[in-house]
Amino acid sequence: MVSLAPITIAVHTLGRDSRGQLIEDVQRGLSASPKFLQPRWFYDDRGCELFDEITTLPEYYQTRTEMGILQQHARAIMEMVRPASIVELGAGTCTKSRVLIRAAKGMGSLWTFVPFDISEATLRRSASELSEEFDDLTLYCVTGEFDHHLSQIPRFGRQLIVFLGSTIGNFDGDDAHHFLAEVRRLLRPGDHFLIGADLVKSEADLIAAYDDSRGVTAEFNRNVLARINAELGADFDLQSFAHEVRWNDAEHRIEMHLRAERAQTVTIPAADLTARFEQGETLRTEVCVKHTRDTLEAALQSEGIEPVAWFTDSAERFGLLLAG
Ligand code: AVJ
Repeated sequence: MVSLAPITIAVHTLGRDSRGQLIEDVQRGLSASPKFLQPRWFYDDRGCELFDEITTLPEYYQTRTEMGILQQHARAIMEMVRPASIVELGAGTCTKSRVLIRAAKGMGSLWTFVPFDISEATLRRSASELSEEFDDLTLYCVTGEFDHHLSQIPRFGRQLIVFLGSTIGNFDGDDAHHFLAEVRRLLRPGDHFLIGADLVKSEADLIAAYDDSRGVTAEFNRNVLARINAELGADFDLQSFAHEVRWNDAEHRIEMHLRAERAQTVTIPAADLTARFEQGETLRTEVCVKHTRDTLEAALQSEGIEPVAWFTDSAERFGLLLAG
C-alpha cells in the first residue's frame, strides 16, 4: 500500500549492546540470593509471540479490559488534553495508541506520534502500519530503554505521554520512583501523562491470570531459560523448572518464579558462570505490582505529577489515571 502524504520516520538507536546487558544481568541475578532476573529478558521473538497469546487468554483480563476503557473514554481524554503530540512509552505494536490517535485526529489537534520502544524491528513494523491508516501523521520513532533513554525523547509541542499495559507493575519501589521522576522531567505545563495499571483484586483471579489453564504463561516463563541457552550457550534443562506464581501480600504484587524440581548445576559459558540450584530453590523472573487508585495517585504525586481524572471498568479490574 502506498501512502498519499509524506511521512517522516526517524529511528534513533540509543541502545547499547543488548547481549552485553543480558550477560551482566544474568551474572548479577543468578549469583544473588535469592536468584532473580529482569522481566525484560522475556521478550525475544518467541517471548513476544507468547505474550501476544497471553493477552488473548480468558484468564488474562488486563489487555481487553484496558482496551475497553480506552475505547470508551478516548474522546473525553483527548478533549481534556488536546495534544499536538502523543508519546507512547513501550509502544510495541501500537494497538492501543491507535485508539488514542484516532480520537485526537478526529479533533484535529494531533500532528506527531512518538513511539518509544526497546525493539527497533517492532517500531519499524508498527510505524509502517500506522502510516497506512494515518497518512498525515508524523511518526518519530525512538528506540531505547526506560532506565536510560527517556531524556532523549524529542518534544513536538504540547504532549500526552502514555504508559499503558500496566508495565509500571514490573518496576519495584526504587525503579518506579526513578521512572516516574524521568517522566516528570519530560512534562511541561499543559502536558499530560496517561498511565494504565492493573488493580488489586481477589488473589484467585490474580493467580489465574498468571497461571492459565493452557500453560501459555508457563511456557512464557520458561522461555527466558531457552533464550539464555540459545544466546549465552547455557545448559538449562527447561523440564526441570516448574512455573510458580505467588501473591506477595506485603508488597501487593504477583511474583513469577521458576522452581528447580531437583538440585542441579547450570553452566552459562558466555557469562563465565556456573549457577547452583538446590532442590526447590526458585529464580524470580518477574514482579507485577498491583495498584489501587490511591497507591497509583500517591506514586505520581510523590514525583510532582498531579492526578486529573480516573477511568476504570465496571468491575474495577483495571485503571487508567490521567495526570499532569
Ligand atoms: C506486561 C508486565 C503488564 O504483568 O501482566 C503477563 C507481563 N507476565 N503474564 C503483566 C506478564 C506474565 C505483564 N505486563
